[in-house]
Amino acid sequence: MPEFQTSPGMRDILPPDSARWRHFVSVFAEVVEASGYGQIIPPLLEDIGVFARIGDATDVVSKEMYDFVDKGDRHVALRPEQTASVCRAFVQHRPTVPWKTWYAGPNFRYERPQRGRYRQFDQVGIEVLGVDDPHLDAEVIALGSEFFDRLGLRQVSLVLNSLGEPDDRSRYVDALRAHFEADLDALSDASRETLTRNPLRVLDSKRPQDAPLIEAAPRIAEYYSDEAAAHFDTVQRDLRAIGVPFVLDPMLVRGLDYYRRTTFEFQAGTLESAQNAVGGGGRYDGLVEDLGGPPTPGIGFALGVDRTLLACDDEGVFAAPAANVDVFVVDTTGGAAALAVTTEMRRAGLAADRAFENRSMKSQMKAADRSGAAFAVIIGSTELDASTAVIRPLRSDIEQTTVDRADLVATIQKVLS
Ligand code: HAM
Repeated sequence: MPEFQTSPGMRDILPPDSARWRHFVSVFAEVVEASGYGQIIPPLLEDIGVFARIGDATDVVSKEMYDFVDKGDRHVALRPEQTASVCRAFVQHRPTVPWKTWYAGPNFRYERPQRGRYRQFDQVGIEVLGVDDPHLDAEVIALGSEFFDRLGLRQVSLVLNSLGEPDDRSRYVDALRAHFEADLDALSDASRETLTRNPLRVLDSKRPQDAPLIEAAPRIAEYYSDEAAAHFDTVQRDLRAIGVPFVLDPMLVRGLDYYRRTTFEFQAGTLESAQNAVGGGGRYDGLVEDLGGPPTPGIGFALGVDRTLLACDDEGVFAAPAANVDVFVVDTTGGAAALAVTTEMRRAGLAADRAFENRSMKSQMKAADRSGAAFAVIIGSTELDASTAVIRPLRSDIEQTTVDRADLVATIQKVLS
């Protein structure tokens, strides 16, 4: 066992898998940039106050924050998510609205690691600030769906709910508290503890003991104001109109406190239910104000890259793109010729690799084969003396040819096209 290994919940993403991660982000960028979203790159570290607004009662803030006091005596934290950072950036820079942003990058939560749950995990996401219009909710949700479609995932379902306006939500929370307190003994110990901090989250309990009481709990829809109900109706009508399938779940409460009105989650049918959310989001109209800005509506979502790729593995879709080079240069004359040839090729835009340490012809040909290159370019002493090179196809039965070194790059370009 080596002395140093990755910390619990942290992983190395190695090639060729890492190419899949980069491709994932570029497909996401393609989808959202085609809808007018621009990339924001917030810092990994912020004043802890930025994240406190996610909600004191949430596990993310109360238990899972990677926070510390820095050398300048500032209490800072590694970001557990990026919505709060985007809102902080909005307050700081005051861009014109609507502000449509997307992001990609790592987040940190001190969680109990398991398959699909890590302490460092990546998200891609979008946030829109400054628009109070249910048609935007539909656009945002539809973009999430579209992205999963592009990946080739078929077993991801969209689960939708509305938490109503803040007043509706707090009346509902009171009703829930009263409902559960009337039958405290029937609740599990863990849910009794959750009830004291955040009655909504009791609805999230997967413990069988809690199921009957949750089933009998009041439903949020009974507490919607007319405005909240109308907003939610339009979102549903919009999604039906543009053919985005969804299921309603009045028990969908989400793990962060800033949500109001529309909330949603993308759940992968192939993943275990405790970690089946491959993405989630919703409206958070009060967050910018909480961070010191003007009243500004906001909505967005974040998708978990790690988890979504697990779902892709389960469905056998979205393989790592091939990282093959075009040409592998085999030089048995010491290696200087390979340096010259690979340099010339790379400058001409070809992908070229080579062997080092003056290995035998056999070992260099093996490396050429492993590289996935379409052609080996072979330079031995005969070719060196004659200023030529042999082009040997590795993946087809075309004859090998000998060409002048001066024509090598042009010939390779021609055969590759
Ligand atoms: P969230 O539900 O906490 O929401 O996280 C979004 C997604 O990130 C989850 O559905 C999951 O796929 C992934 N994720 C979260 N925690 C972990 C973990 N420990 N390991 C692996 N994956 C994880 C948010 O973060 C909100 N900021 C989403 C949002 C954006 N709401 C509005 N705008």
